[in-house]
Amino acid sequence: MTNNNYSKSLGDIQLTPVTSAWMHEMMDHTEIVENLLDTYGSPLNIHHLPSFQKNISDYLEVFKKFEVEGQIYFARKANKSKALVDTALKSGIGVDTASYNELKQAIEIGGTEHNLILTAAVKNRALLELAIMNHITIIVDNTDELQMANQIAGELEKECSVGIRLSGFQVNGNKLYSRFGFDIERDRHNLKIWFSDKATFPHLKLSGFHFHLNGYSIEERGEAAIQTLEIIQEFRQQGNSIDFLDIGGGILMNYLESHEEWVNFQNHLRDAILGKREPITFQNNGLGFEQETNKMEIRGNLSTYPFYNEIHSTDFLSQILSYQNSFGTSVAELINSANIQVRIEPGRSLLNQVGVTLAKVAYRKLDAQGNWLVGLEMNMSQLKSSSADFLLDPFIIYKNRPEVIEEAKLFLTGSYCLEQDVLLKRELTFPNLPSRGDMILFVNTAGYMMHFYQTESHLFNLSQDLFLEKFEKLASELFTTDSSVN
Ligand SMILES: Cc1ncc(COP(=O)(O)O)c(C=O)c1O
Repeated sequence: MTNNNYSKSLGDIQLTPVTSAWMHEMMDHTEIVENLLDTYGSPLNIHHLPSFQKNISDYLEVFKKFEVEGQIYFARKANKSKALVDTALKSGIGVDTASYNELKQAIEIGGTEHNLILTAAVKNRALLELAIMNHITIIVDNTDELQMANQIAGELEKECSVGIRLSGFQVNGNKLYSRFGFDIERDRHNLKIWFSDKATFPHLKLSGFHFHLNGYSIEERGEAAIQTLEIIQEFRQQGNSIDFLDIGGGILMNYLESHEEWVNFQNHLRDAILGKREPITFQNNGLGFEQETNKMEIRGNLSTYPFYNEIHSTDFLSQILSYQNSFGTSVAELINSANIQVRIEPGRSLLNQVGVTLAKVAYRKLDAQGNWLVGLEMNMSQLKSSSADFLLDPFIIYKNRPEVIEEAKLFLTGSYCLEQDVLLKRELTFPNLPSRGDMILFVNTAGYMMHFYQTESHLFNLSQDLFLEKFEKLASELFTTDSSVN
C-alpha cells in the first residue's frame, strides 16, 4: 500500500506513534498532500471524522457494558473545528462549551438544552444570558456565579438549570487541591442551605454535580465519584431532584506504539543531561529533568504528557466505573442504584487518531554547532500544548526521494522570531535531509496541539482546518474546509 516517498523519523532513539490507515493513505498520495498545502497554506490541519465517530461509539459501548445511563459531552476546547461539533451532535452525544463563542457556535450548529452544557471557567453577563435564554445547564464554579445566574434568570423570567462543580476530594488522607469549584467540605453546608428551599436562589434549578480533576488518576476519579454520589444522596433527601453526575474529562490517551521505546528515550535523555552521552534534544533540553548540583544524579520529572499508556481511553473509563468503595460496591453499581445519568467530558481522548498537521519545508541550514535546522512554514504556537515537547516521531514526505539513503540528524524549526521556536525539542533522524518543498506530517495532533495555544504573532494567518468523511479512494475534492460547516 505504501510508497517509499515517506518515512517516520528513525535512528537509535525512536518514539513510534500509533497511526491509522487514513494517515498512511494520505502520505501515500504525495501529490494530493502537496496540492492541499498549495491551496490552503502551511500548516494545515486534517481531521478524519470516521475516527471521531468510532471513539464516540467506543465510549458509548462502555456505558452499555456497565448498563449505566451514560452520556458524552465532547469538550470542544480541545479543538476549534465546527465539523467536530456537528459530528458530535449528529452522533447523538453532547458538547461541553467553555466560552461565549463556543456556546454560540454550538447553538448555531444545532445544539440545544438537550445536548449542550456550559463549563466556562469565567462567565460574564453576556455568556450567562446566552446560556439562560437557551436553557443550557451551567456548571457553576463559585458563589458570585450562582448569584449572577440567579439574578439574570430572574430578569429574563427564566428558570436556570445549574450543576455545581465540586473539588477538594479526600484521597488517601490527602485533599486534592483545585482552583476550581466549591470545596466539598467547607462549602457543603452552605450549598445545602441555599438549595433546601427556593428562598436564596428562586430562579435556579439544581440539576446535577460536576467535577473535573487535574492529572490522570483512576483512583482519584473513583473516589471523587463516590464522594459526589454521597452528596447527591444528601441533596436528594432534602428534596432536590438531581439528574446527573458529571465526572469531567482527563481520560488518558495513548500516543505511542512501544513501552520499550518510551523507557529507552527517558533513559537516554537522563544520560544526556548527565553528559554521559551526546545530547538528544535541542541544546540538551532536559524537558523537566535536571542534573542535581555537583552530583551525577537527576532531579525533577519529565514535564510532558505521559505519551505512552497501557490503560487508556475505554479501559480507563471502565476502570473508573469499576472502582470500588470500602464496601466493595463499584462506581457503576452506585450510579445505577442512584438511578442517575453519568456524564463524561472527554476532549483529548475523543480526538485520538482524528487529526494530523501538515507543514512545508522552507529551508535547511547548518548552525554554528553543526546541527541541521530544517525550517518549516509554521510556528511553535501551531503545534503546542502545555507539554514540554510533543514526543512522537513525525513523518517526512519527500517530493522526490533521493535514491541513496544518507541519514540526516536534524531539528525542525518554526517561523517566530524566537530562539525557542524549535517545533520539536527532540533531535530527529530522517533517511535523507529534506529539501525545500518536502512535507512534514505530525500525527495525532487534533487534541489540543492544533489550536489551543495558537497565536497570530507577526500577523501570520491561523492554520486552516479541513476534514475528511469516509472515503474509498483518496482525492483532493474529498477535503472540506471547516469554515464551510454551519
Ligand atoms: C471542565 C473540563 N471538562 C473537560 C475537559 C477536557 O479534558 P480532556 O481533554 O483532558 O479530556 C477539561 C479540560 O481542561 C475541563 O476543564
